[in-house]
Order: sequence, then C-alpha cells, then structure tokens
Amino acid sequence: MFQPELLKGKVIVITGGGTGLGRSMGERFLQLGAQLAITSRREPVLREAAEQMMAAHGGEVFVQPCDVRDPDAVDAMLGAIWEHFGAIDVLVNNAAGNFTSPTERLSHRAVDAVLSIVLHGTFYCTLALGKRWIAAGRGGRMLNIVTTYAETGSAFVVPSAAAKAGVLAMTRSLAVEWARHGITMNAVAPGPFPTPGAWERLLPDPRLAEAAIQRVPLKRVGRHEELANLAAFLVSDYAGYINGECVVIDGGEWLKGAGQFSGLDVLTSAQWDALSELSKRAGR
Ligand code: HXC
Ligand code: NAP
Repeated sequence: MFQPELLKGKVIVITGGGTGLGRSMGERFLQLGAQLAITSRREPVLREAAEQMMAAHGGEVFVQPCDVRDPDAVDAMLGAIWEHFGAIDVLVNNAAGNFTSPTERLSHRAVDAVLSIVLHGTFYCTLALGKRWIAAGRGGRMLNIVTTYAETGSAFVVPSAAAKAGVLAMTRSLAVEWARHGITMNAVAPGPFPTPGAWERLLPDPRLAEAAIQRVPLKRVGRHEELANLAAFLVSDYAGYINGECVVIDGGEWLKGAGQFSGLDVLTSAQWDALSELSKRAGR
C-alpha cells in the first residue's frame, strides 16, 4: 500500500523510541526512508535498539538520551537533533508512564510520576519544537500517542487518564492555533497492543491479559504493524489535510464498552430464542 520512499527526506523524532510501540513505529518509518532520532532516559536501551534497527533496515537512527520531565534537557535534546540533521520534520510524542492502582492509594508523588512524563513531558517537547519551527519560519507535523480512555476516562489509571486527556486537549487546541505557522497535529488512540512496558505494569497476570482480549469485538489484540502503518500514513504528506484528529485503533474495544447491550454477545443461540419469546410476549 505504501510507496517505499513515502517518508524519504523526513527527519522524525520519537520519544520513547527505543522500546515497544515507539520502536515499532520507528522501524516502519525507517523502512519508508525516514531519518530517525530516538530519545528516552536509558541510553543503553536506545543504543541497542538503534544498532538493531539500522542493521535490519539500513538508514540512520540518531540516539539522543533525554528525560522529558526536564524542560532544559528537552530543549537541548531537540537542539542536538536539529543540529545533527539540519532540521526536524516530525515529532512523535510517545513516551509515557503508567500503572494501575485504586486512586485512594496514590501519594501525590505517584500522581506526579505519571503526570510529569505524560502531560508535562509531552507539553515540553511540543513547546520546544514548536518554538523552533516558528522561529525558523517553517512548519512541521506532530503525532501524539494517547489512549482511548483519554476521551472516556478510566477507573484505576486515573493519573494516566487525566494526563492523556490533557494531551488530547493540547492536540486539538494547537492544531487550530499553530496551523497559521504550518504546524499540524494529530493523535492516535491505541487499544491493547502487547508491549513489555505496558503488559508488565498493567496486565501482569495472564487472566488480566485474557480479559483484555475478550473486551475487544475482534477478539484479538492489536498487531504492532497495524499501529505503525497508521502512524506512517498520519505523519506522511498524504495526510496533510488531517489536523486535530484523534484516530482510534482498538478493534472496536471502547465502543463495545460504551454500548449498553454489548455484553449480550455471551448469549447462546438457545438463550436468544428464549429471550426473543419473552420479548415478543411483551405488550400482548
Ligand atoms: C502505586 C506507585 C506505583 C504503583 C510507583 N508508584 N508505582 N504507586 N502503584 N504501581 C509510586 C511510588 O511509590 C512513588 O510514590 C511514586 O509513584 C514515584 O515512584 P518512582 O518509582 O520513583 O517513579 P519513577 O521512577 O519516576 O517511575 C515512573 C513510573 C514507572 C511511571 C512509576 O513505571 C516508569 O518509569 N514507567 C515508564 C514506562 C511505562 O510506564 N510504560 C507503560 C506505558 S503504557 P511514593 O509516595 O512512594 O514516593 C500506557 C498504556 C495505556 O500508558 C493503555 C493501555 C491499554
Ligand atoms: P513502553 O515500551 O513502556 O514505552 C514507554 C517509553 O517511554 C519507554 O521507551 C520509556 O523509555 C519512555 N519514557 C518513560 N519515561 C520517560 C521520561 N521521563 N523521559 C523520556 N522517555 C521516557 O510502552 P508502550 O506500550 O510502547 O507505550 C508507548 C505509548 O503507547 C505510550 O504513550 C502509551 O501510553 C501508549 N499506549 C500503549 C498501549 C499499549 O497497549 N501498549 C495502549 C494505549 C496507549 P525509558 O524508560 O528509557 O525512559
């Protein structure tokens, strides 16, 4: 479906690009000709990922470690990448932190641990690069990885839900405000995509992982290439008129949770016969 050189000449920065979905998106961007910069806190993880990615796909993966919670470090990281490549075309805000907990058990430090990565970190990266683009008189494109519960909220991951909702509000706001500078911004809301980072923290028991699959109408988790292909399209010039959108990629999971009668999918054919009889008798 994609032209092999779809992203040729584009310099793409991915936060949290050494692991999980960030890495999978990076691999796809590299295959499609992009020049890549990956950043996160752990330099050895980034270096190993970069070597493996270049060995597999060719191209260049530039490594620049950074903690997105530190605004000065964020500015220095983007400056180093800009200097290395001569410009930056795309930013994928993918870095995140999360865990499940009853909210009343959280300390204020636990709340900050998530908000500081997801909301503040994403904002710092967005602001620092947006200022550079505006000062340089050139546009750019951002893609923010949120979750389906950025819209709905979710019990037991409340700091993450609040932070991702903030990122979604920022996405929609800046899509409008910065369009006059040629800066466009979208979001992707993934459903369940197995990664060690998410699964070990959120679904550490196999029963939880199985329950996650059962919530999805398609009865399977997402494949990394499905998300990576969506991201490749959204950062490409073919999606140039899409601005301020949040694309859900979850096999129908959140809609199933929202529909009042969605749970009836457990009924057998015989149970439907019985239910149908009862229902037809109503009002007779
Ligand atoms: C309750 C917890 C906790 C937990 C940490 N804390 N884990 N409280 N339950 N499971 C509390 C600590 O006790 C401490 O508070 C405070 O949070 C800070 O803890 P640190 O360990 O010092 O935090 P830090 O080193 O900053 O690490 C941040 C982190 C960590 C978020 C806690 O998990 C991390 O670095 N994660 C990065 C990667 C990640 O989370 N990936 C998953 C993204 S998946 P006190 O009061 O004790 O000092 C995702 C998926 C969404 O977002 C949707 C899935 C379907
Ligand atoms: P992951 O592998 O744990 O990714 C998180 C990344 O963020 C890591 O590479 C981590 O690297 C980086 N990071 C964390 N704190 C950071 C900080 N302070 N500064 C810089 N980088 C930091 O998990 P994932 O599942 O691939 O998640 C990727 C994105 O997808 C996240 O935004 C997540 O919310 C979203 N998402 C995932 C799912 C899913 O099912 N997997 C569903 C919905 C949304 P370091 O530890 O080296 O810093």
